[in-house]
Amino acid sequence: MTTCVASSVDVALLGCGNVGAAFARLAARTPEHSTAIRIAGALVRDLARPRPGAVAGRMTTDPRALLDDAPSVVVELLGGVEPARTILLEALARRIPVVTANKTLLSRCGRELREASAASRTPLLYEAAVVAGVPFLGTFARRPYTATVSSLVGIVNGTSNFVLGRCGSGGTSLARAVAEAQRLGYAEPDPRNDLAGIDASEKLAVLLQHFAARFVNPDALETNGIESVEGIQLEHAAELGGGIKPVVHAGWTNALEAFAAPAFVPAAHPLARVDGVDNAILMTTAHGRLLLQGPGAGPEATAATVLDDVREIAAGWAGVHDATVSPCTVAAPETEWLITLRGTRLAAARDVADLLASFGVFTHRATAIGASDGHQSRSWLAWPCARPRVELALSALRNASGCEALALRALEVPA
Ligand code: HSE
Repeated sequence: MTTCVASSVDVALLGCGNVGAAFARLAARTPEHSTAIRIAGALVRDLARPRPGAVAGRMTTDPRALLDDAPSVVVELLGGVEPARTILLEALARRIPVVTANKTLLSRCGRELREASAASRTPLLYEAAVVAGVPFLGTFARRPYTATVSSLVGIVNGTSNFVLGRCGSGGTSLARAVAEAQRLGYAEPDPRNDLAGIDASEKLAVLLQHFAARFVNPDALETNGIESVEGIQLEHAAELGGGIKPVVHAGWTNALEAFAAPAFVPAAHPLARVDGVDNAILMTTAHGRLLLQGPGAGPEATAATVLDDVREIAAGWAGVHDATVSPCTVAAPETEWLITLRGTRLAAARDVADLLASFGVFTHRATAIGASDGHQSRSWLAWPCARPRVELALSALRNASGCEALALRALEVPA
């Protein structure tokens, strides 16, 4: 497709942070032969702060003034729920197309925004909200027959993947790796949202809206972050032939099951080779598995995807979501587990296995006993079972042995 229906596009830009500034720079470099993207006005929190020079129109703290200028597109890069929600609902009511990269807003208010978009027949695009550098949401929305997805497993937080990789390779502390991710513009303004798994669970909720037409509050998803991962678990994961990755998982063939948490990933799993700030999603479709991998964070990658959304709207290619999303309850799935014990003296392996088995947790592989700082440690992989069984078994292990007992979910290599 080559025809553009608009010769220039006036953008109202909401937010001039890292991504907003990158978007303004990139839009200013629009090639001469294509539709000119002009930042007609920008919403900022503080008019006194220095801003990118690429904003042609007004800088304002008043969103209504920007909408009154009747821009061709509103690009929302504010983050958070309010005031983004109110402004975007107003834009859609005025039939101004919206592009957003705001997973927090979409995960919590996606139903309301989709309904507003459908009611006014006005596009709402959010390609950069999940796996920002890989354009797949729009592709799948336009390909409903090839893209019938029934489950997915992925890595959707670039900061967590980057940080775990740095810590796992032995040299860097968590704090230094997080500072590096912040410097590179990967981390959220509050990096606790990355480290506690909140960013990942919000993206998972957006994926569930998009692929499963289900609306789940991210707070209802089992969510853990990489901040809880211990060095000893990283070491034992490597000894067991894998690594620990920040994983999201969901399946909805029957009831919806999902989680967002760091998990043991065996080396033969496709996600094991997704490193650095890269993200990936492995989807089970009616016709086989699809793996999409690429940059998941960073101002330039995100801005490029946002700009492509704007160009889709300018070219008249953007459709309107017809599918409604239905509120849905979510359960935690049964998975394999990585169980780790650490203490001054560990119980015999057979006693540990017997105690776990008495709770229905059956182990199948173990590391050797490690020793450091006057402590012994050992990890086991356990066959799939539900979280409550594991928690009861760990509690019994702590009581029986006085040792520290930890558990992470573990993925199986897809058949
Ligand atoms: N903080 C997010 C990440 C940015 O690291 O993935 C992209 O959403």
